[in-house]
This record gives sequence, C-alpha cells and structure tokens, in this order.
Amino acid sequence: MSEATIRYGIIGTGMMGCEHIRNLAQLPGAEVKAIADPHEASRVQAQQAYEERGSVAVFADYREMLTQSPLDAVIIASPNHTHAEVLDPVFNSGLHVMVEKPMCTTLADCRSVAERAARHPGVFWVGLEYRYMATVAAFLDKLKEGAVGDLKMLFIREHRFPFLPKVGDWNRFNRNTGGTLVEKCCHFFDLMNLAMGCEPVRVFASGAQDVNHLDESYDGETPDILDNAFVIVDYENGARGCLDLCMFAEGSRYEQELVATGDGGKLECTVPGSELITCTRQYRDWASQPIPADPRVLHTGFHHGASYLEHVEFMEAVRTGTPARVTAQDGVRSALIGLAAHRSIEEGRVVTLSELNTAP
Ligand SMILES: NC(=O)c1ccc[n+]([C@@H]2O[C@H](COP(=O)([O-])OP(=O)(O)OC[C@H]3O[C@@H](n4cnc5c(N)ncnc54)[C@H](O)[C@@H]3O)[C@@H](O)[C@H]2O)c1
Repeated sequence: MSEATIRYGIIGTGMMGCEHIRNLAQLPGAEVKAIADPHEASRVQAQQAYEERGSVAVFADYREMLTQSPLDAVIIASPNHTHAEVLDPVFNSGLHVMVEKPMCTTLADCRSVAERAARHPGVFWVGLEYRYMATVAAFLDKLKEGAVGDLKMLFIREHRFPFLPKVGDWNRFNRNTGGTLVEKCCHFFDLMNLAMGCEPVRVFASGAQDVNHLDESYDGETPDILDNAFVIVDYENGARGCLDLCMFAEGSRYEQELVATGDGGKLECTVPGSELITCTRQYRDWASQPIPADPRVLHTGFHHGASYLEHVEFMEAVRTGTPARVTAQDGVRSALIGLAAHRSIEEGRVVTLSELNTAP
C-alpha cells in the first residue's frame, strides 16, 4: 500500500464509531470513505463528525457498504454481541480490519473469530487501546526494563461513573455486552497480560450489581449488569493480578490506578496522569518521573491520545505488512479472563483458564 491514502469504512457510528472518525479525520493518509449504521441518528452524527473532511457514502447496512464502496480497511464499532456476526462478511471481503473491544462476548465466538483471523490475509487488529496511553505505555516499558525487579503483584483499580446510555440500550444486559468484566475490563486484563508476559491460569472473583441501573426498565426488564467487583488472576509464573472495579464512584480523582510490585521495588501510575512513581526497596525511597504526551498525537479524544496512536500503528501495519500489535490472541485472552471472572462469581469458586480452553 506504500504511501497511498488508506480508505476506511466505519461499521457502527455511535459514540465509539464517531470517535474513530474524529481520529481518522486528523490522521495524515487516512480517508473515511463510507459509514454504515442501521440507526439514522447515528448516521447523521457520523456525517457531522467528518464534515470538515468531505462527504462519505452512507449505508444503513454494512453488507452493502462492503460490496459497493471501494475500501482498504474497516473499523467495527457496533455493539459487542454483533462483532462476530459483522466480522463474517468482513473476513470474506479480505479487507484490513480493526474490531472494537471486546473482540467477542462468548467463548465460542472468540474461538471462531481467532481461527478466521489467523487465516485472514489483511491486518486483523483488536481495539484495546489503553496500552497506548502515554503513562500506561511508560509504565509497561519500565516494567520490561526491570524497574520493580521480578514482578510479583499487579493491581489495577478502575473507579468511575456508571455505564452511559447507548443506542438501543444494548449495554444494559449481559447477553449483549458479555458482562461488565468482559465489556469494560478486557482493557485491564489486556494490560495485566502484557505486564506479566505469560499466561493467566486461574481466576477468583467476587462482584455484584449493587447500585446502578436497578431503577431502570427496558420492555419490562431490569438491567442485569454488575457494577462492582474484585478479580484476582493468577499467572503461570506465580505472579498475581488484582482488579478493583467500582462503577458508582463518580468524582474519583483518577479513573484508573496501576500499581506493580516486585522483589526490587514498586511502580505506580494513574489515568489521567503524567508521571510514574518509582519506589525502590534498597533505598526505601520513591521518585517521580514526568511522562510527556506523545508528540505524534494530533487528536487527544476520549482516551488521552491512545485511539490516535492505535490508528497510527494500525495504518503502519496496513502499509508495511508488519504484524498487528494488538492481535486476535490478545482479544481472546483479555475476554477469557472476564468470562472466567463472571463464572467465578456465579459459581462462587476458582475458575481455571484451562477449563474454559478445553470446554467443547
Ligand atoms: N475502545 C474503547 O475504549 C471503547 C470505548 C467505548 C466503546 N467501545 C466499543 O465500541 C463498540 C460500540 O460502542 P458505543 O459506545 O459506540 O455504542 P453506541 O451504542 O454508542 O453505538 C453503537 C452503534 O452501532 C450501531 N449498530 C448496531 N448494530 C449494528 C450493525 N449490525 N451494523 C452496524 N452498526 C450497528 C448502533 O445503531 C449504534 O449507532 C462496542 O463494542 C464498545 O464496547 C470501545
């Protein structure tokens, strides 16, 4: 593809689809050529998001977009439970693809999508962009450099506001999202997996829907989505991760806090935030290192520039044929921990990843 303009089609133009459009509008060499969404208001919103850059072909059905628009790449930002179905004709098209997280909502879909992705001639990329946030990227780099010695514990806290309203209220039900620990927390399990650099082996979780959405009703049905949990993940090297999720914590100073502790010290960062705190056991002291914004970022957007950098690297993979940095395997592993955590909560027991991996 060398330096030719990359022509994008966007499938699903609600909140995140439009976020992709705004990022692509600022990315040199990218052009959004077409959008597809069954919901009229979302189609209008997408055209408004791109109006500064020119007109786009508009479709209600993404299958028509795939057959009628000349494209190089598609971004899938439809609801979680539609990803596997939407991916089917996208795989057939041979186009490069970025699919939003979670890659899929069920074990069976994760498996079949990973299997198709392995044979896909184009780039296949999962939208797990937290690793591109400047402080998070610096945190992961420092861990790799051995800043804490041998990593033993990784703690990730997300304390934030409740789920926002979505088109058709799809995110109010586990059957559509995969469950909060898949939908939202695949981001954090992806970071855990990256930091640990080895496979998760078992999960123990406790969680519930205690506060949010209990007074809402959709066609007579009350939402069933969990709003708080602790999830402990054991890794094959003996290190452990812990997620602390609370979604009735509006006004928290930080939305996310990451703390890694090893036999040599401790490393901390926050989101939002622009510093790393390194503690050394040897000197019983700590130091702060400022983390500047990445100068490549031309659009900060909702995710502190992470979505922009994700697009920069996706485009590079499309142009150069280098492998995706966020792979189908990353998509599977991050979703599987969430699925295991939900099973652990439902059944009140430790769930091994091997029991999921070997399930029929
Ligand atoms: N990476 C991130 O940080 C991040 C953040 C938010 C959302 N997301 C993900 O992005 C996806 C969309 O979430 P959202 O917040 O934009 O939801 P949304 O409800 O705002 O938008 C979803 C859009 O998809 C459309 N849609 C539904 N079925 C479709 C289909 N078959 N084909 C095409 N379009 C279809 C809907 O009409 C709607 O406009 C989800 O997978 C979500 O998990 C990722």
